[in-house]
Amino acid sequence: MRYPPEFIDKVQEAASLLDIISQYTQLKPSGAGFMGRCPFPDHQEKTASFSMSEAKQVYHCFGCKKSGNIFTFLRDYNGMNFPEALEYLADRHGIVIPVANDGKQDQYAQSQDVKKQVLKMNKIASDFFKETLKRSSLDSPIKQYISKRKLTPETIEEFHIGYSSSEWDRLSLHLQKNNFSMPLADEAKLVKARKEGQGYFDLFRDRLMFPIISPSGEVLAFGGRIHDQGEPKYLNSPETVVFSKSKVLYGLAQTAKYIRSEDCVIIVEGYMDLVSLYQAGLKNVAASMGTALTAEHAKLIKRMTNNVVVLFDGDEAGQMAAERSLSILLSQGLYPRGLVLVDAKDPDEYVNKFGLAAMNEKIQKSSDLFNVVLQSWMIDYRGEASQKVKLVDRLKPIFDSISDNRLKGLYAEDLMMRMNVTKDWLRSALQASQAGGNNANRQAPSEAQRGQNVQNLQSQNSTAIDTAQGENSTLHIGREVDPNDPFGPLTEKIKISDANQVELMLLQMGLKSRANFEWLLEYSETITKEEFNDNNEVPTHSQIFGFKQIISQINHLGVRKIFEIGEQVYRQGVNKFDKFFTLLIDKIDKPEMLFQNSNLGAAAASPHNQEFDVEKEQKYLFDLIKKIQQNFIKAQSKKMASDIKSDKQGFDVDKLKEFVELQKSRLSLKK
Ligand code: CTP
Ligand code: MN
Repeated sequence: MRYPPEFIDKVQEAASLLDIISQYTQLKPSGAGFMGRCPFPDHQEKTASFSMSEAKQVYHCFGCKKSGNIFTFLRDYNGMNFPEALEYLADRHGIVIPVANDGKQDQYAQSQDVKKQVLKMNKIASDFFKETLKRSSLDSPIKQYISKRKLTPETIEEFHIGYSSSEWDRLSLHLQKNNFSMPLADEAKLVKARKEGQGYFDLFRDRLMFPIISPSGEVLAFGGRIHDQGEPKYLNSPETVVFSKSKVLYGLAQTAKYIRSEDCVIIVEGYMDLVSLYQAGLKNVAASMGTALTAEHAKLIKRMTNNVVVLFDGDEAGQMAAERSLSILLSQGLYPRGLVLVDAKDPDEYVNKFGLAAMNEKIQKSSDLFNVVLQSWMIDYRGEASQKVKLVDRLKPIFDSISDNRLKGLYAEDLMMRMNVTKDWLRSALQASQAGGNNANRQAPSEAQRGQNVQNLQSQNSTAIDTAQGENSTLHIGREVDPNDPFGPLTEKIKISDANQVELMLLQMGLKSRANFEWLLEYSETITKEEFNDNNEVPTHSQIFGFKQIISQINHLGVRKIFEIGEQVYRQGVNKFDKFFTLLIDKIDKPEMLFQNSNLGAAAASPHNQEFDVEKEQKYLFDLIKKIQQNFIKAQSKKMASDIKSDKQGFDVDKLKEFVELQKSRLSLKK
């Protein structure tokens, strides 16, 4: 973390979710909150199902189920990471962004500064390349090349395509004129140092320049195509502080809005493929710039749509890339379809040869990428035993990566018929791999249920680890930046989607207001003791309530963990707790589950008839706790009964006594 907590607090206090969201949709007061039409472009609705609470600083759409806080909104809507959002909000509210003074903060401020400088320099370089192209005469080789590639002036303008002159230092001189230092230009990979202090030369010379622009309009890097014969055909910016090929897709600055509105993305390999499809009128496209898709790419896609059509070249490399992208897309929960072009070498050539209608029809008719890949793997398949085994081995990792179980089931059924094997054989053949690959996740059988939850909390499978690392590295440092984050570095979201109804309701109720959480934490002990023991008996162990006890009887590890973190936060300061809900939204797998049965608007305590409400709420909390305790005791006695039965060492009096006590509490709970 490089921003001091006081600064973050100040920004959070000043920031208003209403102010931000109102920029994109009209919100009207409703209950204690606001309602309006969902602002997210992938959810175009006529009725208002988007709700937000200014008091809690959270939003939830009852239609598309998106929930979050001001930071998730700025991330999902505007693509900002945590520090960017902080700076944006600070600017908006006139809060001075602190200048660091200790070593670490200096480093951060410096690296932020370098990033800003590099982006600024890239923009100037991009403008310079554009200008150079404009100034080239009509009969210059580069202009001739452009007309040969059939790029229109509108397309050149839209994609800010430019030209880098063939001289060695045109850009260097231009950058120097703009007061940029050459070492910094080297850091931006726009120039390269000559031998032994003999100055610098331009990296890109005599190439058609494609700036790689982020969705928010920053020039991150360049791809330059040679227009003559020569090698390499494309020269790309190497990795820099602002660019990593494995995290960026080309074209999104122009195409993201179409991807969202079409709710589908067409993935192509090349710059020219994207530009050319766009020019033809197919605009929901993104280009992987010749590399295989990565988990980061897939996550980027998932923020815009779940539907992907992979349109790779018909050559062997294209086929390989399609195969490799299959499990990456599936593991992010996307629905990939695939298309291998046969009558043209790539999408650019195809659309120029056969036109947009033909291209569109191909895309409409494309099959699931799984089937496309399978088909190519089954070309020589004759159903021999060894072929079956080899094929299933090849398919195992793909099946393991599918996160949607319904899809997995259907693919398996399809496969069973195509391979001509029985369901049992296929199932055991596919499971064999899971057992082999996932040994670390195995839990003792008696711990099975909790083990499941433990896995959810500290997922050990490799894709989860990849993703988490991706999130923390260079471009997205949001997560490690907030020292106030009580959740620490979770590798994966806390799963609450499989919690039982009662525990989930307790979570909803407990987090609904500070008063409720306070009651659970501070008063549940005294109140429940009194209420429970109307016959003035000394309470048995299991009847003593209080927060610790309640928590220990919650079966679901995710729910329990949230309560535990909530307690820590509360103990740090009551007003910290008010932000807890806001922070939590981003850390759980199904945030909308916190909103079910509870009207977000009403969730903010109403100042009127508050006493009445509080009492009602506590009665409800009390009932929930009672129910959780019943479940807990039931499970305990069941376990004990079976322990006693199977106890081979003979009759254990203590155990039996304990059992009787348990049965007693069970009865008293039922009263
Ligand atoms: N690529 C690259 N470096 C190369 C060759 C290719 O980075 N030496 C990347 C580029 O992003 C390119 C993509 O891979 O756009 C696809 O390569 P290819 O199919 O060879 O190029 P096309 O996009 O078809 O380019 P063109 O039509 O201009 O030949
Ligand atoms: Mn091409």
